[in-house]
Amino acid sequence: MSPKKILCIEDNPSSRLLIRKILERNNFEFHEADNGISGIRMAREIRPDLILMDINIPGMDGYETTTRIKGIPELKNIPIVALTGQSGQGDRERTLIAGCDGYLAKPIIARDLPRKIEGYLTGTRERVEGVEEGNYLREYSHRLVNKLEGKIYELAEKNQQLQEYGLKMERVYIGVMSSLMNALEQKDPYTAGHSTRVTRLALSIGRRMGLSPEELNTLTRAGELHDVGKLIIDLSSINKTARLSAEEWIRMKEHPSIGARILMPLTFLHKEIPIVAQHHERWDGQGYPNGLSGDDLSLITCIITAADSYDAMTSARCYRKNITPPEEVVEEISRCRGAQFHPEVADALIALIEEKDVPLPH
Ligand SMILES: [Fe+2]
Repeated sequence: MSPKKILCIEDNPSSRLLIRKILERNNFEFHEADNGISGIRMAREIRPDLILMDINIPGMDGYETTTRIKGIPELKNIPIVALTGQSGQGDRERTLIAGCDGYLAKPIIARDLPRKIEGYLTGTRERVEGVEEGNYLREYSHRLVNKLEGKIYELAEKNQQLQEYGLKMERVYIGVMSSLMNALEQKDPYTAGHSTRVTRLALSIGRRMGLSPEELNTLTRAGELHDVGKLIIDLSSINKTARLSAEEWIRMKEHPSIGARILMPLTFLHKEIPIVAQHHERWDGQGYPNGLSGDDLSLITCIITAADSYDAMTSARCYRKNITPPEEVVEEISRCRGAQFHPEVADALIALIEEKDVPLPH
């Protein structure tokens, strides 16, 4: 059997050396990176069997690096074990909430480390249970969003440089935002993969309706970011096993405006921001937050709205375990044609469902 590959992301050279010695002595293949960005690059290259993650690393810290890795589809199943000198109250929970599968406190004990690594390699997973999970999740997403907001302002200030870097910088930025979205969605089985599915379906509708490549590009970015506002509302209320209370609904309905506000300083997203703000409006004016209707809404917004509703109808939710069968989905969309949905968008969506060119119910 070939040796298991362990990637250690750690900024301290003497810690890395110590871990290398221990692991190589125990027949592991050791790889190392001294910061988050090069750690992610290396994880993509070598596909390790397990990642040991120091938390206090400069730049992108261990929490963010973990969240980022867990948001990358081809890397998300690699177990990540936090290896950290922080052992205060809540530190273990914070690492698990960020996406780590286990937590080992420093100092490193040579005779324990290989055995513990074996355990994680063979399926040991730690979790934060119950109410605690919601609280830590909320704290973590607030922290990330604060940092993100800071970065947005920094970027906006560097507008000049941004223009020099051109598209490349924008793409990096959107990539970071959407993997953050993905990572947070993964934490709730009911929302896992939502933004990706909505984007894919919206693109199929858009292509069918003959949108230009530039419009399809806007559609993609808006689809990936449409729920970004959910990052800072109380995630524990989305996770609940019952329907939302009236008060929770009010909070939930703020997510389109919050999302638009988060993105506002990014002038290169000027076409996507109104779509994020309006993705819960309806063709007949009965949506939220502003009750806009018909021609007030762009075609791209109407496409995202329809794809978003389709995903809600075909996903099992915590309060509704049953998935609507395809015939009923078609019936529902026809019924809402010209009411909730833009008539032509509804037609395109129905055609795609009938051709089975849509994501399957899940
Ligand atoms: Fe939404």
